[in-house]
Amino acid sequence: MSVSRKPSAIIFGGLNTCSRALAALLVPLDGESLVSHLRIVDKFSVDPATTYIGAEFPKILGKPEVEYKQANLTVPVTVATCFDPPEGHESYDFVFDFTGEVRHDRTEVIQINTTCNVARLIGLEAAKRKVKAYIRVQQPFYDTSSSSKANHTEKEDIKPVDTLGTWWHETLRMLAAIEDLNLVILRIGFVYGPYTNYGIVASGITVASVYGYLKKPMKSMWSPGKNPNNTVHVEDVAGAAWACAQWMAPLGRTAANSTAGEEILFHNDKKKVKEVEGMPPHDAKLIVPLFNLVDDSNSTLVSIGQVVTSYFGTTFEFFNFVENTVLKLMDDHVEEINEHHVSGWTEMITTSNPPIPNTPLSAYMDKFALSKHVVAFNNTKIKEVIGYKLKRSHFDHEAIKEVVDKWKAEGSWPILPDTA
Ligand SMILES: *[C@@H]1O[C@H](CO)[C@@H](O)[C@H](O)[C@H]1NC(C)=O
Ligand SMILES: *[C@@H]1O[C@H](CO)[C@@H](O)[C@H](O)[C@H]1NC(C)=O
Repeated sequence: MSVSRKPSAIIFGGLNTCSRALAALLVPLDGESLVSHLRIVDKFSVDPATTYIGAEFPKILGKPEVEYKQANLTVPVTVATCFDPPEGHESYDFVFDFTGEVRHDRTEVIQINTTCNVARLIGLEAAKRKVKAYIRVQQPFYDTSSSSKANHTEKEDIKPVDTLGTWWHETLRMLAAIEDLNLVILRIGFVYGPYTNYGIVASGITVASVYGYLKKPMKSMWSPGKNPNNTVHVEDVAGAAWACAQWMAPLGRTAANSTAGEEILFHNDKKKVKEVEGMPPHDAKLIVPLFNLVDDSNSTLVSIGQVVTSYFGTTFEFFNFVENTVLKLMDDHVEEINEHHVSGWTEMITTSNPPIPNTPLSAYMDKFALSKHVVAFNNTKIKEVIGYKLKRSHFDHEAIKEVVDKWKAEGSWPILPDTA
């Protein structure tokens, strides 16, 4: 790419997950933009906001390089028009695909329509328009416990979790099957960071604060085994997505495949192949550049639990249950398990000075948040092949402070005497 011309980019989806952090990297509030033009497309309205967008993002939307488009990406013609550049601009260079339904309580039909189908439509159109790089962010909906290895490289076969994971993984196969698509898959760990309210880490931070407030230990239902829960800062998701795009652009898919291609294996029901549009045959050999992205903390349930609870001045402990009991307890008692910390959080936000009438944060842990997660990814490949350097390599008190302080500043987090 010539130095004289900055690339242009579209970010699809992810307003409720990581795309705001990428927008902030590409078009910073202070400092020079990395792109000549940035279009962000999602199903939400941003003014008024129909999802949590944090205090900083509206300012980024106000920058002259940035355009926001609310669109229904399940509609093929709508997807196509999203690729038409504004007057006076050339066609888009990079596409960042952050789409996909992250709610785990959605049905298979919804997952197929809103995760697979949306990404496939965007991927097909991006290939047609010959975008130079297409970066797909893959959330950590996997279970890596089948192998005893400490962490898992991109070569190993890992199991998608539940309906959600199955169809997110299928989406990778569908995109990989688009031969002319300059696709890179960025497979991330559990995300945390400023203005990031989705996922199990945000939930853990919120609940730990309640136990700190109540001056009681936070107790996990899972035994203190290894249970890796590898983490990644949202700014690294943004940074690595950008690095992947720059790596792919001069190479193209064929050369990128020969350097970093991995086979995306089938993990679905063979019967579905006929039923679901765009689903490649179970035995199709699908190769695509794939990179894990987690920080260097080797975070586990225990380490995250200890970091968050100690930040709020309490401790992380374990109930002495056997796993079968836990599963049964969870099925029958999700509400009771939540009773304590949900009422504690309500008390915190109502006694806060000033009070917090609206917060995007909840101390309610649904079954997914309460479930055992085992995700351990090896992050060597992205460092060696792309040369990516983590900006935020450790999940620690400083990281939590940054997150909580920004929530305090925007009025999403209670301000109480004698608490962190
Ligand atoms: C998006 O389009 C699909 C297909 O036309 C439609 O079924 C769905 O209701 C639309 N969604 C919204 C939020 O308008
Ligand atoms: C899913 O997509 C199909 C085909 O476009 C449509 O007929 C169906 O109504 C959609 N279902 C949901 C739940 O969105």
